[in-house]
Amino acid sequence: MRVLVTGGAGFIGSHFAKRLASAGNDVVVLDKLTYSGNPANLAGAKVELVEADICDPAAVAAAGKGCEAVVNFAAETHVDRSIHGASEFIETDVLGTYVLLDWARENGTRLVQVSTDEVYGDVPEGSSSCEVDPLRPSSPYSASKAGGDLQVIAAVRTYGVDACITRGSNTYGPNQYPEKIIPLFVTNALDREPLPLYGDGRQTRDWLHVEDHCAAVELVLRKGASGEIYNVGGGEEVENRDLTRTILELTGADESLVRHVVDRPGHDRRYSVDASKLRGLGWEPARALADGLPETVAWYRDNRDWWEPIKSGDYRAYYEKQYSERLG
Ligand code: NAD
Ligand code: TYD
Repeated sequence: MRVLVTGGAGFIGSHFAKRLASAGNDVVVLDKLTYSGNPANLAGAKVELVEADICDPAAVAAAGKGCEAVVNFAAETHVDRSIHGASEFIETDVLGTYVLLDWARENGTRLVQVSTDEVYGDVPEGSSSCEVDPLRPSSPYSASKAGGDLQVIAAVRTYGVDACITRGSNTYGPNQYPEKIIPLFVTNALDREPLPLYGDGRQTRDWLHVEDHCAAVELVLRKGASGEIYNVGGGEEVENRDLTRTILELTGADESLVRHVVDRPGHDRRYSVDASKLRGLGWEPARALADGLPETVAWYRDNRDWWEPIKSGDYRAYYEKQYSERLG
């Protein structure tokens, strides 16, 4: 199968592109190479990399020529950055999705939209989000992702586009840009830098290994019914303060590195998805956090040459803006 993987130079998209390529598929990666896109994530993989924007219809048509499917990972993805300003989020996550849908409609191409459990907003203790639940996004990021999802649903209904949506939970593993909690705290702990824990640190996330996330997206690509939405959840709910404690243990760092800092505005307390629909298609997570997290910490310990260049330059400017006042 020849597949267009948009956003395939980012964290999850690069694992997905490598997974498809190593199974013998033809993979074309279209990626704008924003701050989080990194050709090094695709090192050694047999994929064609096209540097372009999903908002550019001509570039999408050229890169997608001959592809039977498009899997869209391209997005602006970080909640904290969306709080500083969301125009790029709306452009890529909503307009970009629309451009891909339009191209898929014209060419009869199947589309899988990679979305997030954050579109449901936070869920109270004791309940979990189902695919039919209303969308109640809390952040400019999740509102933009919800906008993309709604474009997909409308395109299926109005034009008969062959498309599915996956809504994954918080994902971790190698090659994740060190702005999200796990790679940020692991790399800071390795360097004995402070770990800025927002608010009381009792927010809960449902952790999913990147390879399990990719296996789920591939299954939906191959077997998902058009117009359907599939939740993807690791089923491993952990409070941020407990996750932080484990990271300290795994890096041999001292508890004094933890700083309770001013909370994120609009911070979702808890995410939890019911993934039984996808389990019904035959998916289940293969990696427990108890194995996946130590392996991930080991990867960051062994791959400083991947993250040290990232944590300079533009990253420093973002870090100052986000944390300097918080950390005093
Ligand atoms: P990431 O930020 O690591 O990668 C995003 C990629 O998209 C980058 O390579 C970037 O260059 C590219 N990109 C951004 N704007 C683009 C544009 N206009 N045109 C082309 N390429 C563009 O993100 P990620 O964590 O790998 O997330 C991938 C997808 O999975 C996103 O849609 C995200 O919403 C979703 N998701 C992520 C998580 C998570 O925990 N990381 C969980 C659930 C869902
Ligand atoms: P993050 O990795 O940004 O993912 P998301 O907001 O999409 O779930 O954050 C995960 C959790 O970690 C979230 O509750 C916010 C918290 N967090 C901190 O406490 N400190 C930080 O510096 C960051 C980046 C996140």
